[in-house]
Amino acid sequence: MSASDLGIERLFSLTGKVALVTGGSRGIGYMISQGLLQAGARVYITARNAKACEEAAQSLSAYGECQAIPADITQAAGLQSLCEQICGREPALHILVNNAGAAWGDRFETYPDSAFDKLMSVNVKAVFSLTQALTPLLEATALSAGDPGRVINIGSMDGLHIPTVTGVGTYAYTASKAAVHHLTRHLAVELGHRNITVNAIAPGFFPSKMTDQLFTHHLADIEHNSLLGRAGQDEEMAGIAIYLSARAGAYTHGAVIPVDGGTSINWRHSSASSKT
Ligand SMILES: NC(=O)c1ccc[n+]([C@@H]2O[C@H](COP(=O)([O-])OP(=O)(O)OC[C@H]3O[C@@H](n4cnc5c(N)ncnc54)[C@H](OP(=O)(O)O)[C@@H]3O)[C@@H](O)[C@H]2O)c1
Repeated sequence: MSASDLGIERLFSLTGKVALVTGGSRGIGYMISQGLLQAGARVYITARNAKACEEAAQSLSAYGECQAIPADITQAAGLQSLCEQICGREPALHILVNNAGAAWGDRFETYPDSAFDKLMSVNVKAVFSLTQALTPLLEATALSAGDPGRVINIGSMDGLHIPTVTGVGTYAYTASKAAVHHLTRHLAVELGHRNITVNAIAPGFFPSKMTDQLFTHHLADIEHNSLLGRAGQDEEMAGIAIYLSARAGAYTHGAVIPVDGGTSINWRHSSASSKT
């Protein structure tokens, strides 16, 4: 069977679609934004730092039409402003990527309450609030029953297993990411009949500002714990996001998809430094 028999272009093209990627200014959000643009979508990105957001949109414009709408999505005013600007510019939104997030690590004895407040707010509450606010625009896509609106939440392999690489506790982070996965399933129940799919990507280690220290100090452990012996690469994050956004992924719904080189099913749990 040839590529044209399968309609490969039709399966994976995002031409004509509009996407919003939160936290698109760097890291995983940037990787996803680049992939969606290269597949043909027009992409809006948001982040708190306006200058970084504008600069990222400018550099992403090398791959397609990308615009920055800076906003803090944990603040009611920021969320409202973002939604008003999207609704003012677009009659429909085809893809919402809830990617913006934060992490916090500390010893058990000193782990601060404030970490829970901050992480639950950006990693979980904002995912719900933004999806809730933009559902009318996602419903308005109505391209066809075979090509629903898409919500893609970025969870983490740390919501699937307990991380051991750093030696510090990430209690609020792991709890928030498990919450993202379950929220994904709950939203899938709510939104499926409204012609919107909801899925989560659970990444393993990808290079970003969030993981910078890990890559600097624990690269051997990252590689040891991955069943493929390495960290993830940009195009591997772009690829899963394109699949979930395209015709190819239209029947994938309520799924939490690990993209972690098998790290979350690897129970070796010993550090590379203690490997014999
Ligand atoms: N990198 C990994 O290995 C890895 C693994 C598993 C899961 N993840 C998840 O992937 C997502 C992205 O992580 P990353 O590694 O790319 O992190 P990152 O480099 O720190 O990027 C985080 C992005 O989110 C934005 N952001 C943070 N708080 C925000 C807020 N309140 N409102 C709007 N934007 C906000 C940041 O921009 P501003 O600071 O300017 O707001 C930035 O664009 C997170 O949900 C993370 O938990 C990452």
